[in-house]
Amino acid sequence: MAKQATGVMDAIVSLCKRRGFIFQASEIYGGIGNTYDYGPLGVELLRRIKDAWWDDVVVERANVVGLDSAIIQNPTVWETSGHVGGFSDPMVDCKLCKARFRADKLDDARCPKKPSKKPTECQGELTEPRAFNLMFKTHIGAVEETASVAYLRPETAQGIFLNFKNVMEAGRLKPPFGIAQIGKSFRNEITPGNFVFRTREFEQAEMEFFVPPEEEQQWYDYWRKARYDWYLNLGLNPDKLRMREHETDELAHYSTATADIEYLYPFGWGELEGVACRTDFDLKRHSEASGTDLVYFDPQAKERYTPFVIEPAGGVNRMALTFLIDAYEEQQVGKDVRTVLHFSPQLAPITVGVFPLVKKDGMPEKAAEVEALLRKAHLASFYDEKGAIGRRYRRQDEIGTPYCVTIDGDTLSDGTVTLRHRDSMEQEKVALDELVQVIHERTAAWERPVPQAGPE
Ligand code: GAP
Repeated sequence: MAKQATGVMDAIVSLCKRRGFIFQASEIYGGIGNTYDYGPLGVELLRRIKDAWWDDVVVERANVVGLDSAIIQNPTVWETSGHVGGFSDPMVDCKLCKARFRADKLDDARCPKKPSKKPTECQGELTEPRAFNLMFKTHIGAVEETASVAYLRPETAQGIFLNFKNVMEAGRLKPPFGIAQIGKSFRNEITPGNFVFRTREFEQAEMEFFVPPEEEQQWYDYWRKARYDWYLNLGLNPDKLRMREHETDELAHYSTATADIEYLYPFGWGELEGVACRTDFDLKRHSEASGTDLVYFDPQAKERYTPFVIEPAGGVNRMALTFLIDAYEEQQVGKDVRTVLHFSPQLAPITVGVFPLVKKDGMPEKAAEVEALLRKAHLASFYDEKGAIGRRYRRQDEIGTPYCVTIDGDTLSDGTVTLRHRDSMEQEKVALDELVQVIHERTAAWERPVPQAGPE
């Protein structure tokens, strides 16, 4: 039976903790709002998402290169980019309980004293909205004074603009070309986070694609499709994915057009990634403020111009949450309910579970050999000899392991193993010396199964 929205989120939060994907940060001290730690499986999921993004955006393209810029930049960067003056949410305070809420998200908020009520429904009176800057401040050096104020970056994008000239000259690049970066960003978010959907520190995967101004529309179309297809190719349910163009009054100050790739979360449609036309806004602003000419000189046309920018910007943690939610299914199997994560094999934290059928007759030793063979072939493996084989399969299903290999009497006599598939639960006999190749073939042919009764 399909679960209610809160039920699905609760089930995923609980699975994430129980199986070591995601923990509340500082949990033993009572936690800290909107902040999470990633456990052994969570860190592997994040790593695979980042690898898949980097492969698609950088490695497989001749015209995109990578960068890793600093989190703390010269504070003038953030004045120039508009973040010091304008990166704020409208906030209201409750005069009664002193809680603070985002004025534009009051419907999503709950009164801390009466959690069944929205802030507009309890007896507290709200102040007029005031702008609350989302940037985290810190101080450089030993003295905490105005002159030493610095900021943790609220987006990775600005580090790319600052290095536009360095990267272009070092790589002898010519527009159209892109600079990609994955790294942590920080925002002092006040709104409730819906688990890791909105957190105070998070990783972004962003790419600034610099184009001749007249090619802006063509590349905007190109990157919207490329990024949308990336999510589909990694198995997201097409019925829960959509592209939404921003209305004019929604656009950020630097953008003339933006589309959000949105996913239908259990709590409603939400932004997964944005693709924005940033025009020449950032390069021009930094040129003016720094005195360094951030332009491209075209030697053939003998003209200088400031490239326009198309920016696909996604959040890695939000991607992880989306893949978790989309993969999650509680399936009726006979009288049992099987919890399964239908991750793409490319994203699954563990690729193969390795089981000796029984703990005797040389099977554990043979299984350990198989595990070593798989690890050597860079297939993340997990050895398990505890409990009935069916329970071992279920434990791997719950964390999304696409394959399980069982070592039985046949393995010792004729060198075959049983390869069991997570989605179909079908089994096939495979010769041990072909196992790695067969796993690669099945992974290449993987298609998202149609859920029996997915989250609504
Ligand atoms: N450089 C453009 C930029 O930063 P954004 O829409 O503010 O645009 C891009 O952020 C992506 O970063 C979002 O689509 C989302 O996936 C992710 N993101 C933004 N704020 C986040 C937060 N507080 N927690 C988790 N992810 C966040």
